[in-house]
Amino acid sequence: MDDMLRQGWRQFETFSPGPAEDVRVFFAPGRVNLIGEHIDYNGGRVFPAALREGTWVFARARSDRMARFASFNYPKTVTVSIDGLTYHEGDDYANYPKGVIWAALRDHMAVVGADFLFIGNLPSRAGLSSSASIEMATALAVAALSGSAYSRLQLVRLAQWAENAFVGVNCGIMDQFAVGMGEAGHALLLDTATLDYEPVPFETGDYRLVIVNTNKPRSLGESRYNERRSECEAVLAVVQRRMPTVRHLAELSTVDWGRCERDVGNPAWQKRGKHVVTENQRVIAAAAALRAGSLISFGELMKQSHVSLRDDYEVTGFELDTLAEAAWDVPGCIGARMTGAGFGGCTVNLVHGDALARFQDEVGRRYRDATGLTAAFYVSEIGAGAREVTEEAGALWRSW
Ligand code: GLA
Repeated sequence: MDDMLRQGWRQFETFSPGPAEDVRVFFAPGRVNLIGEHIDYNGGRVFPAALREGTWVFARARSDRMARFASFNYPKTVTVSIDGLTYHEGDDYANYPKGVIWAALRDHMAVVGADFLFIGNLPSRAGLSSSASIEMATALAVAALSGSAYSRLQLVRLAQWAENAFVGVNCGIMDQFAVGMGEAGHALLLDTATLDYEPVPFETGDYRLVIVNTNKPRSLGESRYNERRSECEAVLAVVQRRMPTVRHLAELSTVDWGRCERDVGNPAWQKRGKHVVTENQRVIAAAAALRAGSLISFGELMKQSHVSLRDDYEVTGFELDTLAEAAWDVPGCIGARMTGAGFGGCTVNLVHGDALARFQDEVGRRYRDATGLTAAFYVSEIGAGAREVTEEAGALWRSW
């Protein structure tokens, strides 16, 4: 973290010269979802955790109504008036902070112009919520510079709104929530119908959380994501004809779903509904298993989740399936599944500490042989949610 902050300071001094006292620095992590996939927009329970890696943003207010965005990972500086914000494909990552400012203005926040520099250590477009991380870091910065008293949950909603209405991805609230509300060493059991949540200690004893990146360039992920969401809405409409009080698909019991399934007719939609109903139950069982210290059961539920996402929800694809299936075969790996939206991105795995080298070796080799791609492996830890880090950053700057 210190290195990232040092690099950030150096670049920010050139990008936005001025007194160091006026600079504020914020951090927002990425997230990994342990289980509960594609059900946050169906009122289901999800079980994500914040990572230690994420995005830092350096910010300085300006006296005009301009916003300037620079990034370590992207050569172009984007300069816009905050009163005329529109989505531009060519602005790349800057569409996320633009979206947050756009949403904040529509929500009547007294947003001021500012210079923003982003620096991060999350692989982008890998299903670890680099976009939600940029959004939440920006939301904290924008609120702070504007002197606004938004609650953390309001900022989470603002970030989700930016993604839905400005960027055009109809995502649920899981990512922004995990990134905004995460707690170190805990996974968040979140009920997306009510936003009630409970931090559950993520105690895995000798097992480590390993994230494996397919390094597959994600293509058409957004449109297929939106397509799944509309399929679920169509299924819900059919269910409501028989059960008008049902508000979300995930609230159905298996028995109720059995009654409604035939009404749905379309075989692909039947599979979507089955995934949603069963995945929600797997999350409840997984959280109970974790609390009881039954990691083997937790891992088995991860595997079932992947199979359901592969066969019923159909969002995995060859690369993710190859990684998960190779992982299941390695002794010492007790659970593996895709995490995030799918169509590429990462798997999340529980691997015994003594088996890490063999895991990386065998999974890496099988993946390369099958796909010609090289997977990346990260042993991760669960970090805390988004926060201001101006003091730590300032201390580093002064100690130079
Ligand atoms: C993406 C979305 C989330 C969630 C997951 C799938 O990460 O942003 O809202 O729907 O996909 O579980």
